[in-house]
Amino acid sequence: MVLESLRFSRVGGLEVLDQLLVPTEKKYIPVKGSEDAWRVVRSMQVRGAPLLAMVSALGLAVEALERAEKGSEKEAPGALQWLKERMTYLKTSRPTAVNLFNTMDALQEVVEHAAASGSSDKQIYYRYVEAAERMLEEDVQANKAIADAGADAILAAMKAKGREGQARVMTICNTGALATAGWGTALGVLRTLHARGRLERAFCLETRPYNQGARLTAFELVEDGLPGTLICDSMAAALMQCFGVDACVVGADRVVANGDTANKIGTYSLAVLSRHHGVPFYVAAPLTTLDVKLKDGSEIPIEERPDEELCSLKLDGKSFRIAAPGIGVWNPAFDVTPASLISGLVTDHGLIPKRSQDFDVTSFVSNKKR
Ligand code: MRU
Repeated sequence: MVLESLRFSRVGGLEVLDQLLVPTEKKYIPVKGSEDAWRVVRSMQVRGAPLLAMVSALGLAVEALERAEKGSEKEAPGALQWLKERMTYLKTSRPTAVNLFNTMDALQEVVEHAAASGSSDKQIYYRYVEAAERMLEEDVQANKAIADAGADAILAAMKAKGREGQARVMTICNTGALATAGWGTALGVLRTLHARGRLERAFCLETRPYNQGARLTAFELVEDGLPGTLICDSMAAALMQCFGVDACVVGADRVVANGDTANKIGTYSLAVLSRHHGVPFYVAAPLTTLDVKLKDGSEIPIEERPDEELCSLKLDGKSFRIAAPGIGVWNPAFDVTPASLISGLVTDHGLIPKRSQDFDVTSFVSNKKR
């Protein structure tokens, strides 16, 4: 069984794996409501675009259930207003991953619809919880669909080059079971290639400054018995040059209307290196990561994390200073890869068709909604 990033039930509540302790310790911590959810997301005890959205939604579900069962009907404010206020608050934890905003907006529609059709406060809370539970199931299904489509795309690209054997695939950050409700997006593609007997080796980048590759992806590869090799981010070019790579596959925090993609810092460099070495570069993401309200990547808000996260190494919850005190620091958590460097955008509804230099994400999304 794939590692669980979270556990949720109506009786048992919500627990999340504290990712700051992985790989040394597997400790699940309770998330008792929206305040806890906000805190574990902000502190990066949980991270990854789909997971942080899911934990926010379910953290609020825990509180909504309590209010529904306690019968807070007469308490002000009413269910609709209270849920909307909590959702607005949850949206303030981290700015780049659009899954959080899309998920909260979708849940808001559900409760507004319930309120408009005359539901009681108790019913509104239950509609919210049911919708959040459905999203949890859908996330795993979406990942399996992405993984199949991504594996097909990589194998097709290899075939076009006359390569029939197993694939050597590079990835950055953590996009696996620990970044989602299960299986993973880009790492899900690697899992599926492995399950099909077509993965020679996964190369995972350490992913400075927060080391999601070394701590989390390496951990998932080892736990699941996938053949994996860890490299520093700065070794990617040399590995492509010396040994050859069949494809890169990465996740996304936000894909905008023209296909420009925000993902973990270092993704853009990897895309540039891939172009130089003729390596196909794929982005794997569910529809909840698409944001067609933004025209291009210049409009994506990029989170900047505290200096301390670049100047120190964190392990087992302890911090070790590695940078000279007094030095200035720039620490963006994400960068934007231009669509022109992306060979394929792989979603749970297949590949988004590519135009010469970009993608028509808007038409793709509106076709799926029909
Ligand atoms: O800062 P993080 O660890 O939340 O960043 C995560 C990433 O950039 C992932 O690649 C992205 O969220 C996709 S996860 C399926």
